[in-house]
Amino acid sequence: MVKKIRVDRLKPGMYIHDLNCSWMVHPFFGSSLSVKNESIIEKIIRFGIREVYIDTDKGLDVADESTKLEAKGERHEKQSEELNKNDEINFDAIKPLSIGEEIQKAKKIRDEALLTVQKVMSDIKLGNQIQNESVVHTVDDILVSILRNKDALTCLGRLRKTDEYLFNHSISVCALMVSFGKYLGFDQQLMREVGVGALLHDIGTMKIPPEILNKKSALSEEEYDEIKKHVHHGKILLEENEDIAETSIITAYQHHERLDGSGYPNGLTGDKISYTGQAIAIIDVYDALTTKRCFRRKIPPTQALQLIYERSSTQFNRELVQKFIRCVGIYPVGSLVRLESGMIGVVQSQSEGNMLQPVIRVIYNKKTERYISVPYDIDLSLDLGKGGGDRIVGYELQEELNIQPEMYL
Ligand SMILES: [Fe+2]
Ligand SMILES: [Fe+2]
Repeated sequence: MVKKIRVDRLKPGMYIHDLNCSWMVHPFFGSSLSVKNESIIEKIIRFGIREVYIDTDKGLDVADESTKLEAKGERHEKQSEELNKNDEINFDAIKPLSIGEEIQKAKKIRDEALLTVQKVMSDIKLGNQIQNESVVHTVDDILVSILRNKDALTCLGRLRKTDEYLFNHSISVCALMVSFGKYLGFDQQLMREVGVGALLHDIGTMKIPPEILNKKSALSEEEYDEIKKHVHHGKILLEENEDIAETSIITAYQHHERLDGSGYPNGLTGDKISYTGQAIAIIDVYDALTTKRCFRRKIPPTQALQLIYERSSTQFNRELVQKFIRCVGIYPVGSLVRLESGMIGVVQSQSEGNMLQPVIRVIYNKKTERYISVPYDIDLSLDLGKGGGDRIVGYELQEELNIQPEMYL
């Protein structure tokens, strides 16, 4: 598990996952290192680093850190169906739910999150501060949904319509970031912090003149430069509220940085971009490519992942891209696929070990152009006669068939 700790709690034997100081020059080779002795700790402190991420799977844990979390957990005897907004959440008590069960809850969470993002945006327009408390509650709701079922909210995010792109994009990037954080082994606090950064990563666009932001035709170079300023505006807005964690600010601030220095605002290269900044860069592009915009068609997740992978030798961290592919899957739950038999189905579940042969709910016969009266499941990892015997030959976009895949989960 990855945990953020203060440097005064560092001990020899711990493994530093990320020095959390990518924007400054430090004397260490790379951002991950094993704490072999006290002198490494002294050096870290001397360089003004205040907090680091440790990986407790690769080194020692902070004993009292977990005690604190357990103590928090004991205060909650049962998981509430509706989260009590003023209470802490006992993450350990969260019970997993099937995609079908979670999708209904996820719709409600998404709708409430939309209201929060709308409120944040209008507050900014009115010159008010961001209400951190409501943002954290929203991120907690998203986090709980992801912990119950990692696919429900991300599936809804992919299936959304074009309207209100920015609000939906914010929620979708947040859900994907939290889900990826969980996959990468982040602890709860860190998942929360990256979630806040992801939910607010584009809020700076509220400071861009609407005639440039909403322009349908091609942008001039000056106009594009203006758009790029959204990351700076965002950083200032986030820094105005001292309750917003530094990790949230860095994650949001670096979402357009690229490993080869071709990104903005600072053209940072390699490890100078924080780990969470490198992760959100992948997610931001993935979400933009897989959803419809007024000026561009959406592309299937496989194609988006392929495009990102192709750029992983230059723009994105290859190891993180590979992990992201394993996290979201090649055929994400809720996507529509065409089988060799001519049947169309909705992906129900997939395993990391066998991403190319998920379980499909067959709902439509493309040859006869008729719906199946009683949809049935087929496990593509099994042979013919044993519940399988078909294979995926392509993606289908739900808009073209006018199918709502979430109805079949
Ligand atoms: Fe952006
Ligand atoms: Fe974005």
